Amino acid sequence: METSLLSDWIVIGAGITGLRAALTLAKTAEVTLITKEGASESNTHYAQGGIAVAMGGAEDVELHAQDTIQAGDGLVFEQAAHLLVEEGPARIAELLAWGTNFDREGDGFGDLMRTREGAHSLPRILHANGDATGREIGRALLQRVQQEPNIRLYERLTTRGLVARDGRIIGVHALDAAAKPLLFVGRGVLLASGGAGQVYSDTTNPLVATGDGIAMAYRAGAEVSDMEFYQFHPTALSVTGAPRFLLSEALRGEGAVLRNHRGERFMDRYHSMAELAPRDVVARAIMREGGGERPGEALPVYLDMRHVTGKDLHARFPGISSCLQTYGLDLARDLIPVRPAAHYLMGGVRTDLFGRTTLPGLYAAGEVACTGVHGANRLASNSLLEGLVFGARAAETMLKEGPRREAPATPDKAAAAAQKIFSPEPAASRVSALRERLRGLMWLHAGLLRDQVGLSALEAELDNMRRELPAATNRENAELCNLHTVAELIVACALARRESRGAHARTDFPQHDPGCAKHSRMVRGHVDFIDFS
Ligand code: SIN
Repeated sequence: METSLLSDWIVIGAGITGLRAALTLAKTAEVTLITKEGASESNTHYAQGGIAVAMGGAEDVELHAQDTIQAGDGLVFEQAAHLLVEEGPARIAELLAWGTNFDREGDGFGDLMRTREGAHSLPRILHANGDATGREIGRALLQRVQQEPNIRLYERLTTRGLVARDGRIIGVHALDAAAKPLLFVGRGVLLASGGAGQVYSDTTNPLVATGDGIAMAYRAGAEVSDMEFYQFHPTALSVTGAPRFLLSEALRGEGAVLRNHRGERFMDRYHSMAELAPRDVVARAIMREGGGERPGEALPVYLDMRHVTGKDLHARFPGISSCLQTYGLDLARDLIPVRPAAHYLMGGVRTDLFGRTTLPGLYAAGEVACTGVHGANRLASNSLLEGLVFGARAAETMLKEGPRREAPATPDKAAAAAQKIFSPEPAASRVSALRERLRGLMWLHAGLLRDQVGLSALEAELDNMRRELPAATNRENAELCNLHTVAELIVACALARRESRGAHARTDFPQHDPGCAKHSRMVRGHVDFIDFS
């Protein structure tokens, strides 16, 4: 028997986007905020390098827009990019007023420090506690959320399907930590559930990043866009047996260079910005220098900061230094082995610039959403800013247009059917084996380099795997189903885009096709290409 819980708005995800949105919604409404783990466990918590923002007036803002558009390789929806950079400074001012401690020059009251990252034409990236920017922003926002009587935070809940009534999304089915079913109902739902890095075997993302929001929205009939564009961060730690720990781009902003196994710097052969080239260019260069078409065959490639003098690297990057120490490595003295890993999904649930998806009652913002702001390749450190700007915009829209609060609902037949699409439950070990198989295959065939043969084989594998999917009766099962849906979306869109652009590199179509400078859109199994407007 499912317990029903009522509020005005349901926000799924407690990273930067969900927290920021909940604060706006709570001004005049009751908010249910749902998170799959403890409140601080999200991609936001692990964001190191910083948050990009242009606080120096109109020219500075325009330059940030141009860098964002340039990095996105011909596919950025320019209106979205302008909104992001124009509204960014006010959102940062708000964070400062709410007690976020960004790093400052001098005694702690001085000017905000700024660093540079790939494809930025100047240093504009704020950071906190050196390399723990996301954690500090999350701390300040969560503290404010916890003081807000209109927000009820539910931790350790797995969401497993959206609830519709009369064609409008009004709620979500969830499971608590003991797999007890709960039904949350309100005026509508905001997806702020982040990305899906766990769909790849090699990822910088935490275990919670399983694409739940995207999968639920798609199954409910929402359009998704640009799913072929998965960003691979160039420099994750490459030590056998170690997780793919992120080694922030800020390291390169502070002087780190890349060297191949012969000790040679190589990035100037690939791009005029060398180590600070756009992320997709650096990631592919590392792979090529490693000598393997496929990750795993590669020779080592290293980050080198040994020449950087006059800076205390351990103080500037305390989190990274301490992680490296665990593996017997020292940022100031050693070559640090690196390789690319899945990091950020540019695509997601298609929204307009107000967070509206194509389903009434369903809103989305942050990494789960696709506004087109990042095009084919996100500019470094634009993602935290995206969460703030579009989280706030979505919440303002919801307050303006939401209907009256719903009574506890009997879901529409279609939504109820969507809960039952899976076959009987396999053993937990089988679920985990399927998950690992899916992630490995995605890395192999839908990773940094793709082609028709590999993608088609993967498509067939995913088709077969569908028959083995379990009922979403616990977190592990629900996540596997969601990862499978996300994998299918990535593969279908990657097959449909017969060109290379940004993070999507097809070895069989290595060039841009000017006719393909459009966004992919997928709904109910069908892919086409559209302009955003
Ligand atoms: C990093 O610190 O390199 C990650 C920042 C980002 O993903 O933009």
